[in-house]
Order: sequence, then C-alpha cells, then structure tokens
Amino acid sequence: ILVLSVVSEIFPFVKTGGLADVVGALPAALAPENVRTVTLIPGYPAVLAALHDVSTVLEVPDLFGSPARLLHGRARNLELIAIAAPHLYDRPGNPYMAVDGRDWPDNAIRFGALGLMAARLAAGEVPALRPDVLHAHDWQGGLAAAYLRYRYERGPRTVQTVHNLAFQGLFPASLLPALALPPQAYSINGVEFHGEIGFLKAGLALADWITTVSPTYAAEIRTREYGMGLDGLLRSRTERLSGILNGIDDAVWNPSRDPLIAARFDARRIAPRIANKSVLKKRMNLAPDDALLFGVVSRLTWQKGLDMLVEVLPTLLATGSQLVVLGSGERNLQQAFLDAARIHPSRVACVVGYDEELAHLIQAGADALLMPSRYEPCGLSQMCALRYGTLPVVSHVGGLADTVIDCNDMAIAEGVGTGIVFTPTIGMLEAAVLRTTALWRNGRVWRRVQRNAMRADVSWRRSARRYAQLYRDLLAERRR
Ligand code: ADP
Ligand code: GLC
Repeated sequence: ILVLSVVSEIFPFVKTGGLADVVGALPAALAPENVRTVTLIPGYPAVLAALHDVSTVLEVPDLFGSPARLLHGRARNLELIAIAAPHLYDRPGNPYMAVDGRDWPDNAIRFGALGLMAARLAAGEVPALRPDVLHAHDWQGGLAAAYLRYRYERGPRTVQTVHNLAFQGLFPASLLPALALPPQAYSINGVEFHGEIGFLKAGLALADWITTVSPTYAAEIRTREYGMGLDGLLRSRTERLSGILNGIDDAVWNPSRDPLIAARFDARRIAPRIANKSVLKKRMNLAPDDALLFGVVSRLTWQKGLDMLVEVLPTLLATGSQLVVLGSGERNLQQAFLDAARIHPSRVACVVGYDEELAHLIQAGADALLMPSRYEPCGLSQMCALRYGTLPVVSHVGGLADTVIDCNDMAIAEGVGTGIVFTPTIGMLEAAVLRTTALWRNGRVWRRVQRNAMRADVSWRRSARRYAQLYRDLLAERRR
C-alpha cells in the first residue's frame, strides 16, 4: 500500500509540536506492515537542505502566482516530496509565523497549495507515485480532500487525522476564488464553516475516514465540552471516526542508548538514573538535597493547564519538592515561572525556549513529570516520561487518560500503577502533588511503579498495525 502523508511539519527538520514527531516516526513503523509512506511537505529551507537523491517529479508553471516544482527525494530514513515554491515557503521563522510571532498573512494560500498539490498527486498526475490512500494531518492538510472532491473525478481513499481540534484553519469566505475552489465547494457539506472557509472542517466533512490520536479524545471531541464547535459534525460521522494512540520513536527516546543524557539506564538497572538527576540539578543551580524533583517539558499555553501549576506552587514547595520547567509560549506564563525561579532559586528553575537536549536530561533526571492539561489529544511527553521512569502526573483527559494508570490503592495492590492521574482543577492538581509526594516517601512502592512505567509499551508497534488495518479496510471498501 502506498500512502501519501500530507503534513506541514516533520521531525527532525521542522517541528513545533508532537505532530512533527508523529509523522516523522510513523513511516518507519508502517514499513513492516507493508505500507510505504511518501510524505508531502512544504519546501521550507530546512526541508530542502535535508533532501538528497532529488528528482523533479512535477513542474507547476503557476502555483498561486509563481512557478513551483515537486521534488522527490530522501531525508534521513524518510521519503519526501517537497513543494519547492520559494514565494510561499522560503521564509525565516517557523512554518506558521514570522519571527515577530504573527501568522503569515497568506497562510490560507500557503497551506491551500499543500492541499492542492496533494490532490494532484492523489489524482495520479505522477503515475509512479499514485497513492492508494491520501492521509492528511490537521488543518494544514484539510483542503486536500476538498480539492479532490471538487476538482478531480477520481482519487484514492482519504483519511483526515486530528492532532488538535483547537487549530481549525479558518479564513474569510472571499478567498474561495483565490484558493481555486469552485463556488459549489462553499457549502455546508464542503468547506463552509459559520460563514468562513474551514480547512479542518473540510477535511472532517469530506474524508472517507477520520482518526484522532487517542480513543478518549475521539470520544471527547464528539461532546460540546471538547468539540470546539465541530462536535455536531463529528457526531454525525461517529461511524467513520476512530482513535489510534500515538507512540514514541524508540530510536530517539531510549534511556539505555540516549546520547543526550549523562548516564544510561533501563528497567533492570534504574540506579544510574540518579547521576542524571545530579547533573540536571547542577546545571539548573538547584540545591543538591534529595528532594522530589518535578519536571515540565511543554508548550506554555492554556491547553497545557500550567497556569494551574503556578497556583499550586506554594504547596509543591511546602512539601520540600523542587521544580524544573522547560518550555515556551504565552508571555505571562513564561514570566510566572521565571519569577518563581528568581524568588526560590534553589527550589525552582525555569528555562524559556526550545531545547532538545535539556528535554532529554529532564526526562532522565526528574522524578516526576507534570502535565495538568485541560485537554490533550494524545501527548507524547508523558510517554517519554514512562519510558524514562519519570512518573507522569497527568490530568484525566484524552491520551493522558489512555496511557497512564493511576496509582490508586487498588492499582498499587495489584501492582499495575504507572503514574498519578487527576481531574484538571487547581484543587485536584494540588491533591495530585501531595499524592505524588506520599508515594515518593515510600521508596519501595515508588521503584515498583517506576519499573511498571518503564515496561509499558509506548512504541509505535500496536498503533502502526491499526493504521495499516485501517488503510486495508478502506481499500477493501472501495473494491466492494
Ligand atoms: P504538543 O504537540 O501539544 O506540544 P506533545 O506532548 O504531543 O504536545 O509533544 C510535544 C513534543 O515536543 C514532545 O516531544 C516534547 O518533548 C517536545 N517539547 C515541547 N516543548 C519543548 C521544549 N521547550 N524543548 C524541547 N522539547 C519540547
Ligand atoms: C498535538 C496535541 C498532542 C499530540 C500531538 C501529536 O500537538 O496537542 O496532544 O500528542 O498533536 O498527535
């Protein structure tokens, strides 16, 4: 089966969040299932620089105003098709925003072009790369299904995956002609969403199948509370919507081989872990006592609920624990953690920014990882934490609920707990911090839970099989 994966970022070349990790790791996991994945991605400078064994597979004389080319090649172990269109993608900053933090004003066209090129490939314009399945990710891939439906007669089966329902790609309806979509595309069954063009809405309405990245999130997004205005549409497609849990990349996240940490360890030899903790504490200038060290590695946004952690900080400190935060995002949240670190320099440390190496060291050296998310489609950091024996302390939402087993009394008695799970409110987060402290004081139980956590299967194996099965089922449907 040949799958065309359509996406706006991919690890290790361009990454703003877990989406990049997922589409970067899934192709290798699908290969043993006889699925070949070719990833279509905008030709950002970092992508073009990484591409080798390149050949031009399609010349496009006019892609929204200027010529463009589709370049097929390899980058690391990935097979990519990059859209070389300097007028759209040759820019500094991240894929979505300029350096000043504002969205590029032509994002509709930039990701419209991604959808359009996907549809042309899907329609078979490059016969050697004609996919059996078009798999689009998030709003940036959302228009692919719309171009296929409204501009081409036939195409492959289509899957739309939701990684985060909050980002919907809404643009003014007046852009319809500029996006080269025919008037009939602007309907309640097409791209129209409350008087605007909704990229994600289009994908959700038109794809043959919808997936999201955990079973619990798949259920949550059909409710008003989590549906972000799309719950009605998603309820109407319940039969065509499923949740497939993400995994993490074993080659990147493996404590027995990780080159970015100070001391390597595994479930059978956890002891060396302590060396990572002291290196981490020294680097962060935290007091060297043997306090419980909480870690955070996260985007600092409302979604992640870390404003609640700021409220709970006095309790956390009163128990004698320490906190290290790595993250970037909203100004006031960054400032709140920087202030806390300034006031309690030996107990709280905060690094604002994106730092791959420090992320690994925190996973290897902290005792527990806090994720008080208000919603979480899947979450990867808690899975890395499980793998590294950093007990995840997570709210009971989305993929967090699906990957962490709460250490309640019964779970401890049965020997199955892997972390602490709580309802995302300030009060329950505070209780969770206290429960974690109590668990920590019982070293024997803590080590048991740590071993459980490290043995949990957070790889892509099971989920890759589910994606492969979904592709096969969709193809079988067509033949019937
Ligand atoms: P999301 O995609 O919502 O940001 P995930 O948990 O799915 O959340 O994925 C986040 C990924 O980004 C993880 O691999 C995490 O380690 C990484 N990450 C987040 N913030 C940082 C940071 N400041 N520095 C390094 N890595 C980070
Ligand atoms: C999004 C979600 C996160 C998920 C990631 C990859 O960024 O916020 O929960 O793990 O996508 O699917």
